[in-house]
Amino acid sequence: SSNQMWGGRFSAGPDAIMEAINASIGFDRRMAAQDIAGSRAHAAMLAATGILSDSDAEAIRKGLLTVLSEIEGGTFQFSTALEDIHMNVEARLKDLIGEPAGRLHTGRSRNDQVATDFKLWVRDQIDAALQGLEALIRALLVQAGAGADWVMPGFTHLQTAQPVTWGHHMMAYVEMFGRDLGRFRDARARMNESPLGAAALAGTSFPIDRHMTATELGFDRPAANSLDAVSDRDFALEFLAAASICAMHLSRFAEELVIWSSAQFRFVTLSDRFSTGSSIMPQKKNPDAAELIRAKIGRIFGANVALMTVMKGLPLAYSKDMQEDKEQVFDAADNLMLALAAMEGMVRDMSANRDSLAVAAGSGFSTATDLADWLVRVLNMPFRDAHHVTGTLVALAEKKGCDLPDLTLDDMQSVHSAITGDVFGVLGVENSVASRTSYGGTAPDQVRAQIARWKEVLG
Ligand code: ARG
Repeated sequence: SSNQMWGGRFSAGPDAIMEAINASIGFDRRMAAQDIAGSRAHAAMLAATGILSDSDAEAIRKGLLTVLSEIEGGTFQFSTALEDIHMNVEARLKDLIGEPAGRLHTGRSRNDQVATDFKLWVRDQIDAALQGLEALIRALLVQAGAGADWVMPGFTHLQTAQPVTWGHHMMAYVEMFGRDLGRFRDARARMNESPLGAAALAGTSFPIDRHMTATELGFDRPAANSLDAVSDRDFALEFLAAASICAMHLSRFAEELVIWSSAQFRFVTLSDRFSTGSSIMPQKKNPDAAELIRAKIGRIFGANVALMTVMKGLPLAYSKDMQEDKEQVFDAADNLMLALAAMEGMVRDMSANRDSLAVAAGSGFSTATDLADWLVRVLNMPFRDAHHVTGTLVALAEKKGCDLPDLTLDDMQSVHSAITGDVFGVLGVENSVASRTSYGGTAPDQVRAQIARWKEVLG
């Protein structure tokens, strides 16, 4: 038999394969609450504008509440023949209340309906991402505050570069996740226009009030062009783009945690709660959560590429291609939220090993730049010459198998006769980080100022 929603012109029902490729109910049932919220707003508006009688609107309102409770209670019978969540809900409404159910679709289409549902769903996910990010930033601020003046090596090329503070390193991630917050907030502000009432593509001849439904659903305004409103998936793409960048940040941090928790580094100890063991090697404590967070970027960025590819080249307005938007976004959102929560838990639980950090901070000639700067400041040497002299001293220390502070004054003067004993004052890592007082530098006071600023920002 033909479809009860659109079967008027059809004499035969769909092939089983047609049904299988066409149906989205297997996944878009996740938008049931949004679909019902949209329908309730639409029905209330139809009554307020006199398009629907108050008694029909009331029957629809009550019926939709019943449908929602059936779905939430797990008793709802989803049907593949009814394709998607929109028609599943409407068909059940018809079972429950009869004829008035057929009046709900006046002045709307599944095209504006699905755009509305999906936008509401994505908007909720943005709010969840904002919450997850804020929680993670708060956990980082605790770590940064505890070790604002703990020294550790800073790296470039993963080779020892200059000493930094633990707090400074934590705060670098606060800046990254702070920009992610901004990106999600920007996306939310831009997407918050209601597609509802755009109807199939051209608008409608019924005297609907799109401002009313927009307000009811928490949108700032109705989308201004009906063709664009049903064709636009920018909101999902912006979510995926922001999610991709955020996942990339999570992945970089996760990589550092994997390295830092190794026996060779011992910079951090991850908690048992966020580690796993090995079934063969009894000594193992593996950073699986960090590794999985590191990997999540793959599917999240994949979703971004997939949806961009679906959307490119689609003529206006709606095409069924657009049904392929949801699974990618659902999967990306689920995994981003999981990654954020896991990272927050790991950061909360982990302990930085202050002693290992300090030992590592002093190795690898990490204060060579301080030595060069001293030659410039005290001996008025051009920086390029100071760089060369310091390089020669590093080579000497390497030959002697010691670090820079272990060289004698004679050693120093054999390379440059004007060097005085004062130079040893700048070779210690504590002095090195304390001297980096330029705005945004690694000096503990700078770090504490940034922690205070972020605490104020978050309130
Ligand atoms: N299930 C469809 C989707 O997810 C709903 C919109 C269908 N519209 C249509 N004209 N067939 O995109």
